[in-house]
Amino acid sequence: MHQILLYLHSWNRWLLLFLGFLFLVVSFYYKNNTVQKRSENILRLGYLIALDVQFLLGLLLYAIYSPEVKTAFADLTFAMKSGVLRFFALEHFFMAVLAMLFLHTGNYLSAKEENPIKARSLRLIFFSVAYLWVILTIPWPFREEIARPLWRF
Ligand code: HEM
Repeated sequence: MHQILLYLHSWNRWLLLFLGFLFLVVSFYYKNNTVQKRSENILRLGYLIALDVQFLLGLLLYAIYSPEVKTAFADLTFAMKSGVLRFFALEHFFMAVLAMLFLHTGNYLSAKEENPIKARSLRLIFFSVAYLWVILTIPWPFREEIARPLWRF
């Protein structure tokens, strides 16, 4: 089960990055348009769902299956001194929570805004900041101590 969740969590990160990027490009392209486009709406939903799914998979790994997290919680003092254990037990989790907060807050605030151009600006700002947190929380292969593969086969 750990392997299945890890693969899904790894693959879904690409879907999340792809949908988030497309959303930002399309939304920026229509930034002065007073009509909410269908493509924007579909991409907004896709971005939100991909992050929610990523979060859920992460929670399952975190709470039940991940050996890294189990080792970290077995001895937190030791874990805080180890870059990799600290990353998966704390930093990765908190950065992902920040991404969720920005995405859902931006979605909520923009839904309440009646002016479509202001609503789009709100979405663009909040969704871009969420995207930055997503990029920062990923254990990219060049991040020496915490490096994970770009793609799992
Ligand atoms: C922005 C959302 C997130 C992204 C983009 C993301 C991305 C990733 C990636 C790329 C990996 C490495 C997978 C691999 O080894 O191939 C990973 C590992 C992991 N993630 Fe996330 N993650 C996110 C959210 C979360 C959340 C919210 C949690 C916990 C609640 C979490 C828990 C974990 C754990 C525990 C591992 C290590 C699993 C293991 O090696 O056993 N992730 N994450």
